[in-house]
Amino acid sequence: MAKYPFEPFRVKVVEPIRMSTREQRAARIAEAGHNVFGLRAEDVLIDLLTDSGTTAMSDDQWAGMMVGDESYAGCRNYYHLREAVEEIFGMPFFVPTHQGRGAETILCDLFVQPGKPIPNNTHFDSTEANVLVRGGVALNLPVPEARDPASHHPFKGDMDVAGLRAAIQSWGPENVPLILLTVTNNTAAGQPVSMRNLRETRAVADEFGIPLFFDAARYAENAYFIKLREAGYAEKSPLEIAQEMFSYADGFVMSSKKDGLVNIGGLFGMRDEALYGKVTVEMILREGFLTYGGMAGRDLEALARGLREGLQESYLAHRIGQTRYFGEKLVDAGVPIFEPPGGHAVYVDARRFFPHIPQSEFPGVALTSHLYVDAGVRGIELGSLAFAHTDPETGETRCPELETVRLALPRRVYSQTHIDYVVESLAELYARRESVRGMRVVWEGPYMRHFTARLEPIG
Ligand code: F0G
Repeated sequence: MAKYPFEPFRVKVVEPIRMSTREQRAARIAEAGHNVFGLRAEDVLIDLLTDSGTTAMSDDQWAGMMVGDESYAGCRNYYHLREAVEEIFGMPFFVPTHQGRGAETILCDLFVQPGKPIPNNTHFDSTEANVLVRGGVALNLPVPEARDPASHHPFKGDMDVAGLRAAIQSWGPENVPLILLTVTNNTAAGQPVSMRNLRETRAVADEFGIPLFFDAARYAENAYFIKLREAGYAEKSPLEIAQEMFSYADGFVMSSKKDGLVNIGGLFGMRDEALYGKVTVEMILREGFLTYGGMAGRDLEALARGLREGLQESYLAHRIGQTRYFGEKLVDAGVPIFEPPGGHAVYVDARRFFPHIPQSEFPGVALTSHLYVDAGVRGIELGSLAFAHTDPETGETRCPELETVRLALPRRVYSQTHIDYVVESLAELYARRESVRGMRVVWEGPYMRHFTARLEPIG
């Protein structure tokens, strides 16, 4: 039996949820073209669209907001943040950015070159788009277990190190400007990367003289998985593990909207002073002065405090335990998910959920639409709508291997009762799965269609 972890916090402020009926929700989703991105958040009962920027901050973080120093240059909160960044990540140079993409854009401008590959265990979609838009090749090199929803490999987020070495040799090391590692691997179902894999990837980077950066949005969750699953780390604190992880990187970009436990912000850290010099120019052009980088002083303070809270063991035990409880309860109820559950989300396997709906008829969208109408729960499709590619020459559409619906858990927001409600709703939908039909697209934009496409049920 799945056990719910102890919640190491109590409630001080509540945010009411606006109740709705099934009929109201059926009308709302039809208006939104069966695309949950088109819903008003107030029309959602339990919002599992993302864990990004949806965190509940602590009383200490809110108190920190009151000591925000809004000076243009050199505000005190920047120095507080710098202390946290130096302690955790060990990087001598860093800048804050308005969110992860702010850091990612600058990194890509400085490293991506047309026709040249950027290897990564798996690129997150905005990272991939940032590589592609500059003419680069986004090379995804996950281990084979990442593609198997039933494999219980403890580190399914790992980089395929042999594949990385082979790719560098075939492209020529001089043609590979940068190696990225995404911890945890969001696109591969939020699975962690082992310390051993970080070390081995570092060795390949050294062998060929290529810089290695982490995409570190969920680094604290990754550190906790290392503690739980990798030999030699059980007695180490999440902070010590994080310090070792980052000792293998030349730098990192990070969306602090996840493990930074804040609602907005990003970070870009690095060891190389010459690179920092280039970053400072880009920062002033795009984000703002170096000591605020697109954030208010109060937001920098909340992040400085959030980074430390995000590494507390009691917090991480609850966080990872809650996701595990959610996943295990779904498995107990017979709902097919990607196993084992990752750090920030449970990924339902939409192909096994609706075996009668072909991928060309968007089983994942059928699932998000019905789950919303039935229960007011919002998840996100990460399948054919998000990732199918049509070959411009043959006109043939290639669907992705995995067809999932991500149910991401905001940090410190929902209780066991909420999770149980989502599990029951999904189990009821699964029981009547044969009554659900596929979907077809009625309108789509040229890029990243999953954000704006409109669909309708078939038949
Ligand atoms: N890298 C990873 C691994 C991410 O998951 C995200 C965002 C980003 C970079 C970009 O950061 O949003 O602050 O600009 N992921 C969110 C999600 C949007 O829902 O998974 P950002």
